[in-house]
Amino acid sequence: MNACSQGDVFKALRIFDLGSKMYLVSVVLFLSLGTLVQGSSGGGWCYTGCEQSPQHWSDIPGSFCGGKSQSPIDIVTSEVVAHADLHNFTFVNFSYQHAIEHLENNGHTVKLTLEDGAVEVSGGGLNGSYSALQFHFHWGDTEFHPGSEHTVDGHRYPMEMHIVTIKKGLTVEQAKVHPEGIAALGFFINATEHGNKSEPWRMLTSYVTKNDTEVKLNHTFSIDDLIGEVDRTKFYRYHGSLTTPNCSEVVVWTVFYEPIEIHKDLIRMFPVKAGFTNIHRPTQALNGRHVYASPATPLPPLPPSPSWCYDSHCYYEPSKWHLLPGSSCGGQRQSPVNIETEKAVEKSSLGEFEFTNFDNKHAIKYITNTGHAVKCVMADDSVEVSGGGLGHDYTTLQFHFHWGSHDTKGSEHTMDSKRYPMEMHIVNKRKDLTLEEAIATPNGLAVLGFLIESKDSSKSGGGSSGHEDTTSSSSSDMEAWKKLTSYLSAIQNISSQAEVTAEISIDDLLGSVNRDEYYRYNGSLTTPSCNEAVVWTVFTNAVKVDQDLMMKFPTYAGYHDVFRPIQPLHGRIIYRSASGAAARTGHAVLLLLLASLSTLFM
Ligand SMILES: *[C@@H]1O[C@H](CO)[C@@H](O)[C@H](O)[C@H]1NC(C)=O
Ligand SMILES: *[C@@H]1O[C@H](CO)[C@@H](O)[C@H](O)[C@H]1NC(C)=O
Ligand SMILES: *[C@@H]1O[C@H](CO)[C@@H](O)[C@H](O)[C@H]1NC(C)=O
Ligand SMILES: *[C@@H]1O[C@H](CO)[C@@H](O)[C@H](O)[C@H]1NC(C)=O
Ligand SMILES: *[C@@H]1O[C@H](CO)[C@@H](O)[C@H](O)[C@H]1NC(C)=O
Ligand SMILES: *[C@@H]1O[C@H](CO)[C@@H](O)[C@H](O)[C@H]1NC(C)=O
Ligand SMILES: [Zn+2]
Ligand SMILES: [Zn+2]
Repeated sequence: MNACSQGDVFKALRIFDLGSKMYLVSVVLFLSLGTLVQGSSGGGWCYTGCEQSPQHWSDIPGSFCGGKSQSPIDIVTSEVVAHADLHNFTFVNFSYQHAIEHLENNGHTVKLTLEDGAVEVSGGGLNGSYSALQFHFHWGDTEFHPGSEHTVDGHRYPMEMHIVTIKKGLTVEQAKVHPEGIAALGFFINATEHGNKSEPWRMLTSYVTKNDTEVKLNHTFSIDDLIGEVDRTKFYRYHGSLTTPNCSEVVVWTVFYEPIEIHKDLIRMFPVKAGFTNIHRPTQALNGRHVYASPATPLPPLPPSPSWCYDSHCYYEPSKWHLLPGSSCGGQRQSPVNIETEKAVEKSSLGEFEFTNFDNKHAIKYITNTGHAVKCVMADDSVEVSGGGLGHDYTTLQFHFHWGSHDTKGSEHTMDSKRYPMEMHIVNKRKDLTLEEAIATPNGLAVLGFLIESKDSSKSGGGSSGHEDTTSSSSSDMEAWKKLTSYLSAIQNISSQAEVTAEISIDDLLGSVNRDEYYRYNGSLTTPSCNEAVVWTVFTNAVKVDQDLMMKFPTYAGYHDVFRPIQPLHGRIIYRSASGAAARTGHAVLLLLLASLSTLFM
């Protein structure tokens, strides 16, 4: 059928395909002109076979179809970023059997109009409540050319259902010009051979008609009946537009990850009974927009190849990390930071940690050279951390090291602008979350940062050794560090790993360092994608390790200076454990001592 046989009257009247009071006005006119427009096409535009096909929608007066934030889009899952704010939705009256008032074929789609104000959606990262007006469909043809509007990694589903809602309190007119005036819920529909021809869909398709008159329904199915088993906690989110003229860019899009499954015979009913095919707009350019996903949405693992670097030998050096796909590196809560010890705010809730299995000498599964760090991966669920004001139980995933070179220091955090030779990060994940959820949750990860100081360099003070007893550093078990660093020669190749069979516990490596005195702030991973998911603990006292053992890291790994530059605090507060007060004084005393020593030995 030719959807474009109408005159300009319809171009003007039906620029907006939402179903509404405004819509009713146009229906009245539509009906009165019905004899003029055989074929039930609405509006002066079409999907195929007329002048105003999608390529020309932007020419329609008052249309936004040539804009930069258009829908639908192809969802490239490798570039989708999980977002913790995309909470569960709340659906109101989705199970209400009387919500669907009538069905109609408007010439572009089959649309079901909902009872005014009865059906609502909120949550899901939407700002406020949205009131559902209608839902409608996009499809391909009877030969099973698929016809969803959104695609996922280029895959097009057989059909797509759109539930169109407007921000509560706004009229349709207002919603069309409010930046988040409309929220659309998109459900893919997949064709199955075996699925039971679910009764609600059989009933719905039984009403589909070529006629442009409204068909009353007998109220025997709800929206929930149609959506069925789809897991509504898994969804993509982006900002886009209406997918029909006027393509107003006011739509908060939700595209659910799981498709609704219906039998292929029912999918055929749409083109067959409605009388038109391939009613879907081509996908539009993202133009720099981001697509987000709720934490529960499965996403592909990040590509393994290290495409970023610390030095200037690659394009994505630290100052460009924020440009990496899916990166949070340009955020406001980034790590590492400089800890100004005088400004840290004491917090009594920052009590003792509880370390479980830190003394287990067989918990390290393997050691690997990632190309950016040396990492020791722990056996699953073997080691845990809680207490320390964390508020959750965390499982230790791995620990790794940051270092400098032979003549520069390489800790990530600095204390009063002092950089230490190395830093050890013990990375822990909230036990109640999956890793995907954790990296999308502000306290999903807890990292314990230990600064590492050279044992030798403090000895080199010669006669000053008497002062060393007053320092805040603590010796660790050099045997453990010798055992650990003995593996470095086996992992010189990037991505290589070696099973750790020697008996080494985290306790052995940390030695007697004081674990009650620490700093606490909210931050991020210090490597791309820099997810702002980390509760940071940086311990006041440094672990002491022999200089020659520390040097093995740059020597064997073959790279050096693997630490990120200090990031701005942006108003964040750094807290200090209650018992940290004494340490701070100690630290100050030490600084004074060092200052006086350095004047002595100049
Ligand atoms: C979201 O819903 C899922 C499934 O209904 C449930 O398991 C999960 O606990 C919910 N999450 C929150 C934060 O309520
Ligand atoms: C569901 O819709 C009915 C009919 O409009 C309405 O009376 C009822 O209040 C709605 N339920 C809720 C929870 O809003
Ligand atoms: C949420 O909507 C309200 C009212 O429209 C607006 O004032 C507020 O800025 C919005 N919040 C966000 C985070 O967009
Ligand atoms: C869609 O259905 C086909 C079978 O008809 C199945 O092979 C495919 O896995 C389904 N896709 C999804 C995403 O469920
Ligand atoms: C490193 O790679 C080279 C060549 O790819 C190989 O010959 C060598 O055995 C590897 N060394 C280790 C320690 O795996
Ligand atoms: C971290 O952020 C949470 C809120 O997201 C806040 O409750 C907590 O106090 C913050 N912690 C620190 C150390 O700033
Ligand atoms: Zn649509
Ligand atoms: Zn690290």
